[in-house]
Amino acid sequence: MKRRFRDFVIAAAFLIQGLDLAWSADREVLRPRVPADQLGAARAITNPLPDTLEIIDKGKTLFNGKAFCRACHGQDGKGLGTDIDPKTIRGALPRNFTDKAWQKTRTDGELIWILQNGSPGTDMAPFIPLILTEEEAWQVLRYVRSFANP
Ligand code: HEC
Repeated sequence: MKRRFRDFVIAAAFLIQGLDLAWSADREVLRPRVPADQLGAARAITNPLPDTLEIIDKGKTLFNGKAFCRACHGQDGKGLGTDIDPKTIRGALPRNFTDKAWQKTRTDGELIWILQNGSPGTDMAPFIPLILTEEEAWQVLRYVRSFANP
């Protein structure tokens, strides 16, 4: 009986440690990327384009085409493009856009900030204005949002 209890305690400790690791990984993903002094302003911005199939489709074409988001975020948006070896990426892995907790945490303004500034210290580069116009970026972001409801 005593031994079973000890085994139980050990198993519980491993489980808690595993949960804790998973939780801190989630927390790292949810941590805001926009610097604190710009976060309020970023959060006030909303996507000016309507959430229509036509706009989402334009975003999809850019995502898979000239903006090459697919190379890192994957065709399914899950964050590992087939064209890229994860070992070649320094720092954070590309975001999984099907992560509902992440989708809920981020505002549109924080997402466009990323396309304007990149995510410093990671392989997520700025895309505006070199690759995308502001309007195209909003189209891509409509597509990024569509991964939340597959
Ligand atoms: C070279 C690989 C690469 C390409 C190409 C790329 N990304 Fe990323 N992206 C990343 C990485 C790595 C991260 C994770 C950065 C982090 O955790 O801060 C990321 C994160 C993001 C985020 C999440 C930032 C946040 O606030 O959590 C968004 C949104 C995003 N990318 C959109 C795009 C879009 C849209 C495109 C195409 C226009 C694109 N990415 C192209 C690598 C890439």
